[in-house]
Amino acid sequence: MPGMRTQVGIVGAGPAGLMLSHLLHLRGIESVVLESRSRDHVEHRLRAGVLEQGSVDLLCRSGVGERLQREGLRHEGIELRFAGESHRVPMADLTGRAITVYGQQEVVKDLIAARLAAGGSILFEADAVRLDGLDSDSPIVHFRRDGRDEELHCDFVAGCDGFHGVSRGAVPDGVLTTYERTYPFAWLGVLAAAPPAVEELIYANHERGFALYSMRSPEISRLYLQVAPDEDIAAWPDERIWAELRARLETVPGWSLNEGPILEKSITPMRSFVVEPMRWERLFLAGDAVHIVPPTGAKGMNLALADVALLGDAFAAWYDGGRTDLLETYSAKALRRVWRAQHFSWWMTSMLHRLERDDPYESKLQTATLRYVATSEAYARSLSENYVGLPEV
Ligand code: FAD
Ligand code: DHB
Repeated sequence: MPGMRTQVGIVGAGPAGLMLSHLLHLRGIESVVLESRSRDHVEHRLRAGVLEQGSVDLLCRSGVGERLQREGLRHEGIELRFAGESHRVPMADLTGRAITVYGQQEVVKDLIAARLAAGGSILFEADAVRLDGLDSDSPIVHFRRDGRDEELHCDFVAGCDGFHGVSRGAVPDGVLTTYERTYPFAWLGVLAAAPPAVEELIYANHERGFALYSMRSPEISRLYLQVAPDEDIAAWPDERIWAELRARLETVPGWSLNEGPILEKSITPMRSFVVEPMRWERLFLAGDAVHIVPPTGAKGMNLALADVALLGDAFAAWYDGGRTDLLETYSAKALRRVWRAQHFSWWMTSMLHRLERDDPYESKLQTATLRYVATSEAYARSLSENYVGLPEV
């Protein structure tokens, strides 16, 4: 069976796997990235859009922030709409930090370009099927490419293959503990060729359900609607989507959104999920492979990048001088940030969505919480420091 060898075998070319490969390269450590989908697919898969200050700093510091700095939209606040009111949360004034709106697929494009320019190895349409020997010095990733079985031999495996990947399942039964929650709703997301009607994101709590107004550029809007978890996308023709967005967002006198052709639409289920620990023997798990948050706090991609920043340092310490301490503390350190983001994402989700049909008590609590954010500097600062990302957790 054809075999190849590298130092760190990385499964998955999402933000976690690609960033890890890039950080390892900067430290002189070799890696091979296996990705089941095509390059075109991963570069055009529409997902998250908000980068915390720490993620922007990491991308820029490591030399892949040039286009991000040119095209990314720096936002210093967000708007909350509820009960016919509108309030701006001045995040930068409250924390000294900001977020940058820049599509996840743009981050992925920039990282792929940087890896390929440096001679890095990313195998697209290479589907990892099984991990072996994780408790030995030389684990193997078995994968299929062009209808053939191949092997990647390595010192360590980084499982960066998202929620549906194979890596997490390679850990023997009884080792991992799972914590999870599903929510009784999903998000319908659309990309529209319509100039955003605002400069900052709007998070709206409405009796018909949550809505989010975001963007990708001065010409393109990104909008989301809370829908039922089993909703059929075919039941949402463009006119229905615009009517619902108007109903939930046009709650402030004199404000209206800009409409335009819908370029793409999809439905994403909502889940909170954590698996502990994030390491077993020579397998290190990162990103969505070990934790999922509902997207309301915009944390998913940021957590994936924060995990691999730790992992890059840990592998560097091992290859530089055989130090194992950072490999050993990786999981515990990463999980502190993961659980902070779990709480924040659950809290934002609970405050902004319609949780149960006909539960007026719940909806009064939500309005009270939103008013508190709108009137208390302390509470607004708490939301802001979580949203822009805490440097230390
Ligand atoms: P991924 O980006 O999922 O990358 C994993 C990669 O592994 C994929 O490219 C996959 O093809 C590959 N892979 C899987 N199995 C294998 C295998 N067996 N062999 C080889 N390769 C494999 N977050 C937000 O903050 N806001 C949002 O609006 C938002 N929307 C989302 C919409 C969707 C549909 C999804 C799935 C996620 C969304 N997220 C959002 C979350 C955010 O995009 C993720 O947290 C982020 O992608 C995590 O990065 P990752 O690298 O860990 O995983
Ligand atoms: C976007 C996605 C989010 O989940 C969020 O909370 C804010 C913005 C976006 O895709 O732009």
